[in-house]
Amino acid sequence: MDGRRMFGIEATIIDTPVLGELRVREQALVIVDESGTIHEVMEAGSPSHAVTREELISRGVLTRFESSRYLLPGFIDLHCHAPQWPQLGKALDVPLEDWLNRYTFPLEARYEDVRFAESVYTSLVGSLVANGTTTVMYFATTHLDATQRLVDICLRYGQRALIGKVAMDHRDGCPEFYRDPSATVAIDQTLSLIEYVREHSDNAASMVLPVVTPRFLPSCTDDLLRGLGEVAAATSCHVQTHASESDWAHQYGLSRFGRTDTAVYQDYGLLTSRTVLAHGNFISDDDRDTIIAAGASVAHCPLSNVFFSNAVFPTREALDSGMHVGLGTDVAGGPSPSMLRTAANAVAVSRVREDGVDATVP
Ligand code: GUN
Ligand code: FE
Repeated sequence: MDGRRMFGIEATIIDTPVLGELRVREQALVIVDESGTIHEVMEAGSPSHAVTREELISRGVLTRFESSRYLLPGFIDLHCHAPQWPQLGKALDVPLEDWLNRYTFPLEARYEDVRFAESVYTSLVGSLVANGTTTVMYFATTHLDATQRLVDICLRYGQRALIGKVAMDHRDGCPEFYRDPSATVAIDQTLSLIEYVREHSDNAASMVLPVVTPRFLPSCTDDLLRGLGEVAAATSCHVQTHASESDWAHQYGLSRFGRTDTAVYQDYGLLTSRTVLAHGNFISDDDRDTIIAAGASVAHCPLSNVFFSNAVFPTREALDSGMHVGLGTDVAGGPSPSMLRTAANAVAVSRVREDGVDATVP
């Protein structure tokens, strides 16, 4: 240990080093440098623990947590709509398609105003960090300027983020006041965002990554899906979208393409090991195999699914089959920014699914 520059925290650390294992390390020492980088975690009883602890105490640089407080790793929110922060907890009484058209698209359209975007995004990122969320995969809006401000704000807060300019150009699936003027413009602006993020002078450590972000099938033309697939291949970027979220959304894909959402995304080159599919409640067994073979992931959004999905995601089966599954708040389809709550909700909805919801069914 470089004695002059390090300081320490003594606390009970709880984490999950591998799926299915909860690890509790009481009175462990975390050695941190001035920049906040963790250098070492020493378990109580390990060879250098006692000596290091004494040294930190003698130098007055050991912070000790009371036994009622714990250290947890930073949370990762795999699916969050940054512009929907102002409508958190509102209008959850209508189906997804009405909620989007009546409330969400009009709200997102307001991010043409960059000052509005700055004030909302500053509030959002600060709140998520305060909730312990250190990494977020964000949908922004169609607006390049506002999305660039979200990049700046995440960098300023030191929040690791994956950020996408939302691409949506379909005349039937998007209102006139809120859609990309053409597939070409959406693709060009996606490329501009990628360049902005990668060249950002404060992003040398790649704390923020750009994401190719077709919103979902109803809002994208075939040309847009094809073009974004080409962008993903050419830039090796991450991809995020919604897949088979609700009865309505799932049926939409089947009736327009004759295939499931997952199959369509795969055909357009949008299903890679860097793809995150939000929701996925209605994926078929074939979809599951396709997602696993691609090495793609599903963002399970348990609370949002309660309001909008008409189904509970089969998390246990997905995990047992080897699929990568993470958790998302889906702000604001999910009315809480807290990943701790999201994790608890994942357990609750799984138990409901396992044990039944209808007292009249034996
Ligand atoms: N599908 C397309 N857009 C959205 C959105 O903003 N939220 C949710 N939950 N589903 C979507
Ligand atoms: Fe979503």
